[in-house]
This record gives sequence, structure tokens and C-alpha cells, in this order.
Amino acid sequence: MYQTKILSEEYFNIFSGVYNDFRMNSAKDYNFEIQPLDYEGFIEYYKKGFIECILLLEDGIPTGFVAYSTIQEDVIELYIIHLLGNEDLKKKYVLLLTAFMQDVSKKRKSKIVEYPMLGKQKNYRIETESMGFKFVDLGVVKFDMQNQEKIRDILRERPETLPINYKIVPYKENYFDELTSAIHLCFKNATDTKFDPRFLTIEGCVDVAQKITSSFYGKFIDDASKILLYENRLIGFCLSNITEGKIGNIPLVGIIPEYQKTGLSSILLKTALTEIIRENQNGFLDLSEVNASVDLANVRACRMYKKAGFTEVYTYPQAYLEKITI
Ligand SMILES: CC(C)(COP(=O)(O)OP(=O)(O)OC[C@H]1O[C@@H](n2cnc3c(N)ncnc32)[C@H](O)[C@@H]1OP(=O)(O)O)[C@@H](O)C(=O)NCCC(=O)NCCS
Repeated sequence: MYQTKILSEEYFNIFSGVYNDFRMNSAKDYNFEIQPLDYEGFIEYYKKGFIECILLLEDGIPTGFVAYSTIQEDVIELYIIHLLGNEDLKKKYVLLLTAFMQDVSKKRKSKIVEYPMLGKQKNYRIETESMGFKFVDLGVVKFDMQNQEKIRDILRERPETLPINYKIVPYKENYFDELTSAIHLCFKNATDTKFDPRFLTIEGCVDVAQKITSSFYGKFIDDASKILLYENRLIGFCLSNITEGKIGNIPLVGIIPEYQKTGLSSILLKTALTEIIRENQNGFLDLSEVNASVDLANVRACRMYKKAGFTEVYTYPQAYLEKITI
């Protein structure tokens, strides 16, 4: 009765209903901040090979799908497993995940798999684990730009008070090389490397920094992206961007290891946040929130966000599969 099948032209018409159901519910059911491509856009990307897709068929009719991409050099990105209805959900989920695993098995020699199990997908943790996936539990934290009390607290604190020889300045292009080295030092041992191996190498960190500062992931806010200097050497960074409409985001924050555990991270984060608040008040920005995602086991990072007034809005397992080594 159930069957999986790689999406092909014969299904382009009847698949639209399932896809549009996913698209319509992507914020509510999966915490998506950015609305997914419309159906025409999805099919166009599919035809170009940017996205791959396997359908779940019930008596020949599509009632679910898995969408993923294998175009990146070292990562297979599993975007979503979406199912219609309430019946046999776990069974159908396993069928789709199994079909995905078979389809990508050859590529797994050179690539890891990363799968943010957002929203309802959390319910399938056990099934996903039984296929060999491991997890990093992430939390999404948010600073509410409409909370006047929190805004007053941040502005009152004057976070720019720093020990002697330390300075916080806005990001400028001439910091790029020092920034990439600092990202590497801060993240090469972080759990982020499990699902984003770019952090393991300098070249990978160049790609991360380049994509953030060139607004690839969202409009980079250079004034509110702060660099921490000690005797004019870059020792910390807090980057800011706008991911969608009114949503601001801190994609990366770090203090290089020898300067950690001195409370500098909170000062740096609050300085970036103060700039965002001021730009919001001046009308240069119009953000309703600033968010960030954080490994829930990273106590210092969680504490840093909490101290700056961020609160947890939801959590999700970031699932990953290591490369096959034989
Ligand atoms: C996250 C990071 C920026 C924090 O900076 P840090 O210098 O290590 O941390 P701080 O000294 O500022 O400490 C932050 C808070 O955690 C507290 N803390 C530290 N260890 C703790 C522990 N084991 N339990 C509870 N609280 C702890 C500190 O006391 C401090 O709180 P306080 O200011 O109220 O005293 C830094 O560890 C880092 O760069 N890590 C690697 C990159 C990363 O994980 N970035 C975050 C995700 S994007």
C-alpha cells in the first residue's frame, strides 16, 4: 500500500498538494522563519538538481516527501520530511528516511549528513536514531525587541565599560583574515563541527565568514557586528544579520580560548545588541526580535545569552550522520 518513489515528471501535477501543505504549515509545524520556495520554484530547483526529492505514495497518490540536497562539497543537507494526515506516521517516516539513506549511500563516503529536526519532526527521534543518526540538542533563544523593560535594562548597563587595552569596534573588511582565524580557534572543537565541518579548517572558516559578511545568509549588519580587540589584535567577535523581514540573528559569537572565562562575552554581545536597539530606535532598522541558536550543553554560551536578556523559544535535535569510513 505504501511505496517510495523518486520524484519524476509524471508526479509534478499531483505532488503540488502535499508540497503546498508543507509550505503553508512550515512556520507553524516546523518553526521555519523563511517561507520555503513556492511550488514552481521548487520544481525549477529540482529540475536543476539543486534539490532532490523522494515521494511517499499511498495507492499511487503522494502523501509525503523527503527533500534534500547533495550539491555541497562535504555535506548532504536533509531539509524536511513532511507527511499528510495522522495515520501510520512513524511507519511512513521510516520508509522515507530509509529511501533517503539508500539514495545517498554512495555519497556518504565523502559527505556527512545534517538534518535539523525542527518542529513536528522531533517526534521521530527514536526512529531517526535507529538509522544511526546522532544528535546535538539546540535551543533557539530570542531577544524580544518589543520588550521595553529589557531594552531599558540593556541601555542602562552601558556595556561598553571594558578593562584597559580592550576595545570593541564595528566590523570592517580589514578584520576579515583575523576574523576567520578567530572563528577557527573558537569553533574547531565545538559540536557545530559535527554538522558543519567547515569549522574544522581555515578554508572552511573563510567560507563561513565570507558568506556571513557578504549577506549570503541574510543582510549583514556591519555596524552591529562587533569585534573585540586586545592591544589592537582581534580576540572576539559577535556578528549580526537580518534573516528575514523583521528577524535579526546572531549567527556567530566567540572569544578566542586564551581570553575566555573572563566575562568578556556578555559585554561583547550586549554591545552588539545595544547597537541594534539604537538603530531600531533611530529607524535604520525595524526588527521585532533578534535570535540565535545555541548548543544546550554549551553552558557558557547559554548563560551569556540569558544575561543579555535572551529567552529560549524552542529546542530541536540537530541530527547528523558521520561519513562512512570503510
Ligand atoms: C561562548 C563564549 C563566547 C562564552 O565566552 P566565555 O568567555 O567563555 O564566557 P564568559 O566568561 O563570558 O562566561 C559566560 C557566563 O557563563 C558562566 N559560566 C561559565 N562556566 C559555567 C558553568 N560551568 N556553569 C554555569 N555557568 C558558567 C560564567 O560565570 C559567565 O557568567 P557571569 O558573567 O554571570 O559570571 C566562548 O566560550 C566561546 O567563544 N566559545 C566557542 C564558540 C561558541 O560556542 N560560541 C557560542 C555559540 S555561537
